[in-house]
Parts: sequence; C-alpha cells; structure tokens
Amino acid sequence: MMNNNTQIVTEDLKNIWHPCTQMKDHETLPLIPIKRGKGVYLYDFDDKSYIDAISSWWVNIFGHVNEHISSRIKEQLDTLEHVLLAGFTHKPAVNLADKLVNLTPKGLDKVFFADNGSSAVEVALKMSFHYHRNRGENRPLFLSLTNSYHGETIGALSVGDVELYKETYAPLLISCIQTPVPKDQSEESAKSAITGLEKILKERGSEISALIIEPLVQGAGYMHMYHPLYITLAKPLCAKYGVHLIADEILVGFGRTGTMFACEQANITPDFMTISKGLTGGYLPLAITMTTLDVYNAFYCDYNEHKAFLHSHSYTGNPLACTAALATIELFEASDVLGENQKKSAYILEKLQKFKELSNVKEIRQTGMIAAVELDGYAPEERIGLKVYQYGLDNGVLLRPLGHIVYFMPPYIITYEQIDTMIDTAYEAIKGLL
Ligand SMILES: Cc1ncc(COP(=O)(O)O)c(C=O)c1O
Repeated sequence: MMNNNTQIVTEDLKNIWHPCTQMKDHETLPLIPIKRGKGVYLYDFDDKSYIDAISSWWVNIFGHVNEHISSRIKEQLDTLEHVLLAGFTHKPAVNLADKLVNLTPKGLDKVFFADNGSSAVEVALKMSFHYHRNRGENRPLFLSLTNSYHGETIGALSVGDVELYKETYAPLLISCIQTPVPKDQSEESAKSAITGLEKILKERGSEISALIIEPLVQGAGYMHMYHPLYITLAKPLCAKYGVHLIADEILVGFGRTGTMFACEQANITPDFMTISKGLTGGYLPLAITMTTLDVYNAFYCDYNEHKAFLHSHSYTGNPLACTAALATIELFEASDVLGENQKKSAYILEKLQKFKELSNVKEIRQTGMIAAVELDGYAPEERIGLKVYQYGLDNGVLLRPLGHIVYFMPPYIITYEQIDTMIDTAYEAIKGLL
C-alpha cells in the first residue's frame, strides 16, 4: 500500500527534472513532498514536520506562511496582479523603490527590477560594462573573488569560481579573472588579500569593468567568511582605477549578517548592489539591482544617441512580488528583528562550542544568522553531506550541507527551543559519522 508521500513522489518523478540534482540519486534517495508550511516548519503529505534550518535556499527569512505577508499579497491579488513595467508603473513598485533607496547605503538612488538573483547579477554586469562604453571606454573584463558564487546563468556563472558549477560550461563563459578572497575572518587576511587586489588592478585595471563580491559570506562557496575591512579597503582602490564595485547581497542582504545589508559593516556604498532571496520573505521571485546617479546619468540622453539600457524580463517588477517585499520590510519595521537576531546568533554560537569535541570537526564559524561547521578527513566520494542530510530528515530537520560544510541559516522567527532541536540533531548526525 502506498502512503500519501509515495504517491506524489511517483507522480513527480514521471515528469519533473529537479534543480541541482543527479536525478538517478532518486532511485534510492526519496524526494520529500511538502504539503504545507507554517513558521519554521514544513510538513509532508503524511504530516511529518521538518524544521527548515536553511530557510528553503536562504529565502524564507520570516518562515513559511507568514500571516502579514500572506494577507498583504491577498489584498494585492484582487487589485492588480501584473502589468509590464516599460511605459507603465504601479504603486507597489513605486513604494518599494522608495523604501529601498532609504534602507540601502546612502547613494544607491536608482532601482532596476529583475525577477531572480542571477538576472540581477546579469543586469549589474551589463550596466557596468555599458556605463564604461557610454563614456568611450572598452573594459571587456570582470574581476571576482576566488571561491565566489553569483548564480548560474552564463554571465553570473562566468564571475563565479566554484568549479562544480562552472567547469563544464567554461567554453561558453565571458571574460573574468579572480583575485584572492581573504583566507579567514582576520584583519590580517583582509589586508593581505588587498595586496593581491592592488597588484591585479595595477596590471589590468583599465580593462576591468567591475569587481563583484559577496560581502562577508560566500554562501555556495562553502560558507567561507571574511572580515569587512577587505570591503572597506577594496572600494577606494577600485575607484582609483575606475573599476565599479558590485556588492552581491542576494544572500547576505536583509539582516542575515547582523546588519540590514552586509556593506554597512564596511561603511561603504558600492556602485551596484544586487538583492533578492529574503527581499520577498521567500514568497515570490523578485530581484533588484540598485545603483548610483552617476551610473544612471551615463545612460540618460536623447534616444538617438543609443545609450539606453535595453534590458527587460517579462515579470520585471511584478506587483504581487513587490507587495511581498513591502510586507517583508514592514516586518522589519514592526519589531527589533536585528536586535533579536543578535541574541539568537550568540546563543547559536554558544551551542556550537560542543562540536569542537568531535574529532571530525575542523572549524566553527559564524556571521550573524549564518553558522557553519566544517568537517574534516572525508573524501568527496563519501558524500558525508548526504548522510547528514538524510539523518536530519529522519529526525525532522532540513539540513542541506554543502559538501563537508554543515550550516545553519534558519528563519529569523526560530525559537530557542527550535534552535536546540536543530543544533542537537546536527550534532548527532556529525557524531554518527565517526
Ligand atoms: C550570492 C548569490 N548571488 C546570486 C545568486 C543567484 O540567485 P538565484 O538563485 O535567484 O538566481 C545566489 C543564489 O544562491 C547567491 O547566493
């Protein structure tokens, strides 16, 4: 007899090709069909619950089925579901743009809409290249940090440096070189990486349109973390060579690293900032590339001068998604989310100390509401991440390690008791590998 889960899984596998998956794995690894969500919990079709310790790929910052966001979207649904944004506009887009200009670092005054993180990165890359071209300069090269990840469309993949995603497509990619990411969270490492950046900019600065970085935390790059000093020093250095700084805050934006945006900790305003993921509280796809008046003005002229930025997506600035984003920002305004997060992240760090007793744990690191446990001594073929994932699911916690990195990026509404369950389950999973 099939249970409720098996039935939907069988139907799924008939037709669906899942992302980031070797589909053959599902001959032995069961898919988890989710029927509903509430708060930090997801529930399958047999009503088993799972704590979503990774905010469903880092998006659900206020958990699932949040009453406020849901009700704001329902209202909008009966007013205007969509209209194109070329030649037309609407209240949710206008209000959201106004909020974002006030919320992001001073000087990011222009808001360009897209509909997923990779597209926002494409927009930033194209705009930067085009800015230089509009000013009579040819800068066909981009610079990014080693170990970086910026998405998987061709441009975004080109500026990434995680081999797993990039290697196969190398012949298709646009020109990009890497400069070393600081090797750890110390100030010394930040300064030493700046020396590397200075050398590259000196040699090739005039060919480079922009340096793109993930501020403070490289997410898909195994939750690697570095000191804000690197960004503080990189910004004026880039400016000296006329190179834009693109801060990709798609993962780290909206409070994840302890401040609303990670760049605030470096006290700089980048030339471009890309945001997505937490922007809509995990409800709807939306992404934004913010930039400065300087960039905007380089495109502003008579039509026949052919300098306009002709980039568009069908769902650009979708009103439902903008409303979800406005509702998400209202949740930040309604209570001291960042203050509460600070207490929760201190509690998480304290709980993680006991992991140091385990001989397979190499390092514990944390930035705000991101914590990672790095395991040591395993070959990639052992797929220990998969074992931890499976243990987590069996015990009601959705952990999705990146290789040998077990990490926690829970919704901000997680309670202390739920933190205990999440971390104790991961501890048992890691201990069980010994
Ligand atoms: C830093 C960063 N940039 C860009 C992206 C791409 O976003 P999307 O998956 O929405 O295309 C991601 C996704 O994980 C990311 O972490």
